[in-house]
Amino acid sequence: MKTIAVANQKGGVGKTTTAVNLSVCLAAKGLRVLLIDLDPQANATSAIGFECIEGHSIYGPLIGAVSMAEKVLPTRIENLFIVPADLDLAGAEIEVARLDDHLLRLRNALAALRQDAAFDFIILDCPPSLGILMTNALAAADELLVPIQCEYFALEGLSKIVRIVEQIKEAGANPSLGIGGILMTMCDSRTNLSQQVVAEVRKHFGDTVFNTMVPRTVRLGEAPSFGKAIIEYDPGGVGATAYTALAEEFLQRATAPLPVPPAAVVAPAESQPAAEQSAETAPASSPAPPAENDSPAENASGSDADGPIDAGEPPAVPVESPAPVPVNEAGSGA
Ligand SMILES: Nc1ncnc2c1ncn2[C@@H]1O[C@H](COP(=O)(O)OP(=O)(O)OP(=O)(O)O)[C@@H](O)[C@H]1O
Ligand SMILES: [Mg+2]
Repeated sequence: MKTIAVANQKGGVGKTTTAVNLSVCLAAKGLRVLLIDLDPQANATSAIGFECIEGHSIYGPLIGAVSMAEKVLPTRIENLFIVPADLDLAGAEIEVARLDDHLLRLRNALAALRQDAAFDFIILDCPPSLGILMTNALAAADELLVPIQCEYFALEGLSKIVRIVEQIKEAGANPSLGIGGILMTMCDSRTNLSQQVVAEVRKHFGDTVFNTMVPRTVRLGEAPSFGKAIIEYDPGGVGATAYTALAEEFLQRATAPLPVPPAAVVAPAESQPAAEQSAETAPASSPAPPAENDSPAENASGSDADGPIDAGEPPAVPVESPAPVPVNEAGSGA
């Protein structure tokens, strides 16, 4: 059994979309998967078509009131189980922080499941804030899956998560924690900016980056409102193809996690193009394509989703040693 935390302290990068769709795609391949919604927003819970049930979340097991097994529910999808989120979870940030071993609460709660080998994978959908729930996830996970958006500040966010991993390790909460994979999400392979971001991330993080990249597609944005995974909502679409490919690549890697690469701090270049808008693109399941649509910088504002966006030269990415950050700042309180 392997526990994967889908984590990034940055909001809206595709954590929940990835946790839900990876879980469903793995379950569709016959693997027994437990999806744990650690976010009081309960987005993973609703995306899977579940309604929040008061009193039914990871909160009880975290405070030691009930066992994990009591909170695991079957879903309509074969092989997929869920511990949903409820509003109580919002209180966990304060309640759990007061308890002994507050950083190890989730790890301890999962221990029984680990012993029973009830699941092949436990997937943790983490909230964006670096609070007690996320740090518990990092302490409980065998490895992280870090989704990052194909946008200009991607590397900066990544360097933060690398530092957080180091802090968790240094605090002794989870010495073997590693980043198992970095997933580029919401990519528009037609734009130079997306290509440059992917190239830069690969330059620094190498094979830790999944070959599979998730394109920006409105279907992935729509599916949760129907309570469906993308392979149910739009089975033949590019989003379903991407997450199916991710599940395959994930399984290939599952036996041999990669070590955490050295931390890198990334300074943004002086001029930063505005965020790109959405565009339907084919899933890219290979390294960044060559910059074949190197058209002139006709749209540095990025406001035209249909035209190629030229971000100019690839941004400079100086690498330096990160300043140490006390573990307290990561919300562990250790
Ligand atoms: N590849 C994609 N293409 C288009 N929209 C997407 C894609 N991935 C995610 N989205 C949409 O972007 C929004 C943010 O995605 P998601 O909820 O997965 O991010 P998150 O990292 O879990 O956010 P939070 O930090 O708030 O938990 C959602 O509305 C989601 O439906
Ligand atoms: Mg989320």
